Amino acid sequence: MSSAERLPTAIAASLGWRDRLAAWRDGLVAQRRFQRWAASFPLTRPLVRRRALDLFDLMAGFVYSQVLLAAVRTRLFEHLADGPKSLPELAQLLNLPERGAQRLLDACNALRLTEPRGEGRYGLGALGAPMPGNEAVAAMVEHHCALYADLRDPVALLRGEPATAMAACWPYVADDRPGELRAEHVASYSGLMSASQPMVTDELLACYRLQAHRHLLDVGGGEGRFVRRLAAEQPHLQLSLVDLPAVAERARAALAADGLAGRVQAHGADFFRDALPAGADVVTLIRVLFDHDDVRVQRLLRSIRQAMAPGGTLLVAEPMRDTAGAQAMGDAYFGLYLLAMGRGRPRSIAEHRELLLAAGFRQVRVLRNPMPLHTRVLAATA
Ligand SMILES: C[S@@+](CC[C@H](N)C(=O)[O-])C[C@H]1O[C@@H](n2cnc3c(N)ncnc32)[C@H](O)[C@@H]1O
Repeated sequence: MSSAERLPTAIAASLGWRDRLAAWRDGLVAQRRFQRWAASFPLTRPLVRRRALDLFDLMAGFVYSQVLLAAVRTRLFEHLADGPKSLPELAQLLNLPERGAQRLLDACNALRLTEPRGEGRYGLGALGAPMPGNEAVAAMVEHHCALYADLRDPVALLRGEPATAMAACWPYVADDRPGELRAEHVASYSGLMSASQPMVTDELLACYRLQAHRHLLDVGGGEGRFVRRLAAEQPHLQLSLVDLPAVAERARAALAADGLAGRVQAHGADFFRDALPAGADVVTLIRVLFDHDDVRVQRLLRSIRQAMAPGGTLLVAEPMRDTAGAQAMGDAYFGLYLLAMGRGRPRSIAEHRELLLAAGFRQVRVLRNPMPLHTRVLAATA
């Protein structure tokens, strides 16, 4: 008897056909006898094996992450960047006993981070090849130690107990007066954002041309990595950014170091309390909205619209929920990441559209960028 058939008649009758089908499938798959049959029947066997592997990967995923952490910390990818190496050579470079190096390399081979090469040597694998010099991934892998600590008790997190490690990384989230944060509070997350930002701005620049604009304001622009890049690539653009005073100070130092002190204005402000610099005809919000709840997002969007030249364009670039092929990244990874951080949530395109329209923007368009898996880009007219 299927589980749909076992449901009280009143409930079963109210279920749609999809629910009835799902209930029947769940009941069937839960039966040990069916599992054994499906694992041995030639037509269902490949699917059963696939599902079993998927489930195992979910269970073991944290171990894979720690293998990656060990590889990043020992700089394995950098050591292999100039070509394959033998176990004794690698053990010395990684500063590991040969047994430990062998265990790490076996694990990395299995995860396609490295691969065996001729004469007992090891080279970069399909997933390891992009890693040497990839400061974004290396910085995020290191940063995940905080998330890992906060996910030790995921149920406590879901019950609303505070997550201390991530909150310490993102002090502006819990602070009612983030404008008063000092240099030592913002240094660590600003460095992390700067390292990982090109991954996102590459996507934005791949799908939106800035030629027609004259003044760009990057809101929550961090240390100014994006505007510093634009200063070189878009000589016609007037450039400004706004971020918390202590972060804007870091941006000013970075601009000065690049010889761009007079070229880009870095404004220090709390964008929920202070008016934004006026007059830009294109405003960018890169990985900013998902940090905040809807009420704050609404306040920020209205403030941006008021500061913008009429007819100007707002560009929103961040990971979004419901992205085909990356649902786990949106809802599982960013969902729990932002929960541990203490505020904000990943949003779908529809949720962004609703917030943008409510704040007075119109013509919200989804731009087509090469890697929607980790970044979607929306354009809205002020
Ligand atoms: C997740 S980071 C993204 C930084 C940058 N846009 C990027 O993608 O690398 C969010 C930024 O928003 C800034 N921010 C957060 N709350 C703020 C506030 N109330 N006023 C101004 N900036 C704020 C943070 O300091 C931080 O630089």
